[in-house]
This record gives sequence, structure tokens and C-alpha cells, in this order.
Amino acid sequence: MREFILYSRLGRTDSNFRNLHDAGRLDIVYECAVASLFLSHAIRKNTILHTILNGPPNPPLHLKIEGTTLHDVRTDQETWQKILKKVLAGKTHPGISLSKTSFEPLLKAKADVSQIYVLEEGGKDISKIKIGDKPVFVLGDHVGLPKKVERFALRYGEKISLGKQPYLAASCITILNYLLDRK
Ligand SMILES: C[S@@+](CC[C@H](N)C(=O)[O-])C[C@H]1O[C@@H](n2cnc3c(N)ncnc32)[C@H](O)[C@@H]1O
Repeated sequence: MREFILYSRLGRTDSNFRNLHDAGRLDIVYECAVASLFLSHAIRKNTILHTILNGPPNPPLHLKIEGTTLHDVRTDQETWQKILKKVLAGKTHPGISLSKTSFEPLLKAKADVSQIYVLEEGGKDISKIKIGDKPVFVLGDHVGLPKKVERFALRYGEKISLGKQPYLAASCITILNYLLDRK
């Protein structure tokens, strides 16, 4: 199993929005969902994307998207806007769940059974690290991880870098999936 945790500082926590971008950058959640869970014509059954939404009006919320049970999805933004709106309005979608959990207890629970890696440009180069068999990767949104959140995560894991270039969160996930696929 491989898991990604996206920390979304402003991602909206209700369904009251017109588009994903203006909903506290839920478009980043959409991009990360596609990057983490989709192969060409298939869904990665061994992958989970967690997003912690910290935007108004009801933060924090834990949005969990599981490859094993995810159904009725496509890769376009319009489809995901409908799905996210529906789930944030309290309705269900196969493979997607929403709960009132914050980042800290989620990470703590994961650290008991998995290896935690915090993605940051200034971390240890990934080529020098042996990634465990149950990795959990923590990523920030367009602003990056808040310092407090990063410090908390580093109590349980290590800081790793994909190089000096600042990539989009979704690009980081694509790179990580590629590297893990090649192992
Ligand atoms: C768009 S970046 C955020 C950029 C933001 N200016 C910052 O300084 O964090 C989103 C997330 O992708 C990850 N990231 C981006 N480039 C990276 C790199 N070269 N190595 C490791 N992680 C990276 C980090 O987790 C970052 O919080």
C-alpha cells in the first residue's frame, strides 16, 4: 500500500462553491487525486489519497479516496467538481469518505504501521533513501506545509526531497508513483 496525505490550508469544508479553484484551491485536491489514483484505463488499487481540508466553514475535515473501492470516476475536472461537491454536501460516493479528523491524529495512527516521509525541497535527496514498503508521503498545497504541521510530522518521519525545483504537489505524487513503480 502507498498513501499520500495532502495538507490543504484553505480547502473548503462545505459544498458552497462555484468552482474548485475558488473553493480554497480544491483544484489541487483534484489534481492530486488524478496523479495518485489513476493509471491509463485503470485505478491504482494499492493507493489512498488523504486530504486534510482546513478551510471554512467547518475545518478540519479528512477526505479519504481509496483506490480499492473507488468507482464511477473519470479524470476530468468537471467530474471531480461534481463528486467533491456531492461528498462535501454529506452524500456518498464509492471509495470516498469524509470524517471530522485533523492532521495530527491521522498521522499518528499512520506512523504506528507505516513509514512517514515529509516532502520538502530542502530534505534529504530521495535517491539516498530506502523507501519502506508501506510509505505515507506528506505534501503541502500551493503555499506549502505550515511550519507547525511540518514540525509535528517530522516527529514521526523524515524530510525527503525530489530535488531543488519546486514542483506542483500533483507532480510530486506522479514522480513518487513512478519511482515506486520502478522498484
Ligand atoms: C507547490 S509546492 C509548495 C511550494 C511552496 N512555495 C513551498 O515552499 O512549500 C507543494 C508541495 O509539494 C512538495 N514539493 C514541491 N517541490 C518539491 C521538491 N522538489 N521536493 C520535495 N517536495 C516538493 C512540498 O510538499 C510542497 O509543500
